[in-house]
Amino acid sequence: MTERIHNFSAGPAVLPVPVLEEAQRDMLSLPGVGMSVMEISHRSKTFDEIFIRAETGLRQLLDIPDNYHVLFLQGGASLQFSMIPMNFLPAEGSADYLITGSWGKKALKEARRAGATNVAANMADGGFTRVPGNDELKLDPSAAYAHITTNETIEGVEWKQEPNVGDVPLIADASSDILSHPIPVGKYALIYAGAQKNMGPSGVTLVIMRDDLLQRIPEGLHTMLNYRTHVENKSLYNTPNTWGIYIISLVCKWLIEKGGLIAMHRENEKKAQLIYDAIDSTGFYRGHADHDSRSIMNVTFRLPSEELEKKFTAEATAQGLDGLKGHRSVGGIRASIYNAFPLAGVTALVEFMKDFENKNG
Ligand SMILES: Cc1ncc(COP(=O)(O)O)c(C=O)c1O
Repeated sequence: MTERIHNFSAGPAVLPVPVLEEAQRDMLSLPGVGMSVMEISHRSKTFDEIFIRAETGLRQLLDIPDNYHVLFLQGGASLQFSMIPMNFLPAEGSADYLITGSWGKKALKEARRAGATNVAANMADGGFTRVPGNDELKLDPSAAYAHITTNETIEGVEWKQEPNVGDVPLIADASSDILSHPIPVGKYALIYAGAQKNMGPSGVTLVIMRDDLLQRIPEGLHTMLNYRTHVENKSLYNTPNTWGIYIISLVCKWLIEKGGLIAMHRENEKKAQLIYDAIDSTGFYRGHADHDSRSIMNVTFRLPSEELEKKFTAEATAQGLDGLKGHRSVGGIRASIYNAFPLAGVTALVEFMKDFENKNG
């Protein structure tokens, strides 16, 4: 099969076709280099240029202030769950966690191994259907930091604006909505994200970190688990994921050519709205998240029965609409529609939903 299908996978996920084509063209030999990007030293001038393109592309797209470091690490967003408390949760301190879904729960679990935590909000009741209002937060004003998950990939619940945590440093796992809309980076102390949804392939983790956080890192941490190591060595203490950083540089170029994150956000809202409208126009489909918290990246919904959900995903797959099965922990249907997911795929899904309801409703 050489035809591309519509890939609704939550991650690793669809990448822009022009990015894949450029990578394919240059696979055997980068222009003027005679080797592929996977065969050159991470300390070579060629890779240095690629690295700079990835970093400056991200800085431009996200308007990252100069007092923030941009790091390309490994270990996935999951390793950040541990590195953050190891670096920033002092022995005598406590960290606030705002839990709006499954990934926030995992982050909290690792933080608890490192020190004291306070659950400032837990939206588990009702199965994580919304983010809390500021008046619902039980914040600790002396917390070392407050942690949120900007978009809960499994439940499809997204913060539309930052919670008000006062002067407490705000740390965000933005794995599944990074680059989908502009972010006021200055409101955060640290933002991290695995690359494999909206930025590139798996194996690279982006960390955007305000410089003053370096002062908080305790002595004695293992070298690779210490953010200072990666800042001082500009992400090249050890061999980075050169291929992943190369693809990120191409994705940034593609995004800039498309008009940046304001344009991308508009497109993402339009795509998500088409599916939410299809859900809301009938009693057959039932959206998981409350309207105000609906994700524009992961649209989650249920059908009247699990049997129908199984039938739905099987028939959709047969029609080239792949990856619609909800996460194994919650079931249902999940349509992940990241930046690179085409509008044509969304309209194909909406048509399929109408047709499926007509036959089974
Ligand atoms: C919001 C969020 N956080 C963390 C993770 C874990 O990322 P990784 O597999 O890169 O460790 C994921 C993965 O899907 C995610 O969606």
